[in-house]
Amino acid sequence: MIKRNFLLLMASGQLSREEALECTRCRHACHVMLYSDTKSQLFGKFPIRHIILMQMRFDGLLGFPGGLVDPSKETLEEGLTRELSEELGLPLPISVEDHVESCFAPPSSPPFSSPFSSRLMLHFYVKKIEEEQIREVERVAASTATDHGQEVLGMVRVPLYTMKSGGGLAHFLSHSFIGNARSQLVSSLLRFNMASLEELRKALTRSQEIHSQNAESLRAALSLTGAQRKQL
Ligand code: APR
Ligand code: MG
Repeated sequence: MIKRNFLLLMASGQLSREEALECTRCRHACHVMLYSDTKSQLFGKFPIRHIILMQMRFDGLLGFPGGLVDPSKETLEEGLTRELSEELGLPLPISVEDHVESCFAPPSSPPFSSPFSSRLMLHFYVKKIEEEQIREVERVAASTATDHGQEVLGMVRVPLYTMKSGGGLAHFLSHSFIGNARSQLVSSLLRFNMASLEELRKALTRSQEIHSQNAESLRAALSLTGAQRKQL
């Protein structure tokens, strides 16, 4: 019966923490979205509403802080807390109550290993902290965190607002993200009422347009390198 439920849940994509841990042959990775409320405004007119932390990873992709955890040696939350102290530079205890969802990583997720390597199970957490703690994380992550400049190139905030020019959330969502981090962000914004369905639909539609414009500017940049090669 347990096995049948496990297979059904696998088909739907989402697993509870316990169901996901049943996969003893999987590798496990835990990541967390840290956020706070804020009253501050951009240019004195765009309410920032929430500060959400993501990071620019070593591979040039946006993702959430966290990493690989070995459940035979530590609990998921102990492992995630350990990863956070390396990546953010300070202890920020994460508990079972902060768990939001677990699922298999999309098949294309790096590392691009052989089809025989064990599958990656992702555990996602969301934790609300005080605005001052967010500022401290940003300070310490850029100064004393051991992973700074190595596995983590920098912490970034997610702009939740949309400016008249269309700048803001749509541009942010059009960047490249690791695995399903973009979906984790979008579903958390909805789940924790940080953005409405309408806002997200508009922003994501605009992100798609930005994507096709980016393809053109990439072609232009590539043609520059072609011109340089001819000159050499
Ligand atoms: N969706 C899908 N996969 C993800 C996501 C996500 N949102 N976030 C991270 N991953 C994948 C990464 O690609 C990696 O394979 O989860 C795995 C572990 O996450 P990292 O944060 O990259 O792992 P970390 O323990 O911090 O180590 C950094 O060192 O040994 C290398 O390649 C290894 O990526 C790993 C890196
Ligand atoms: Mg990591």
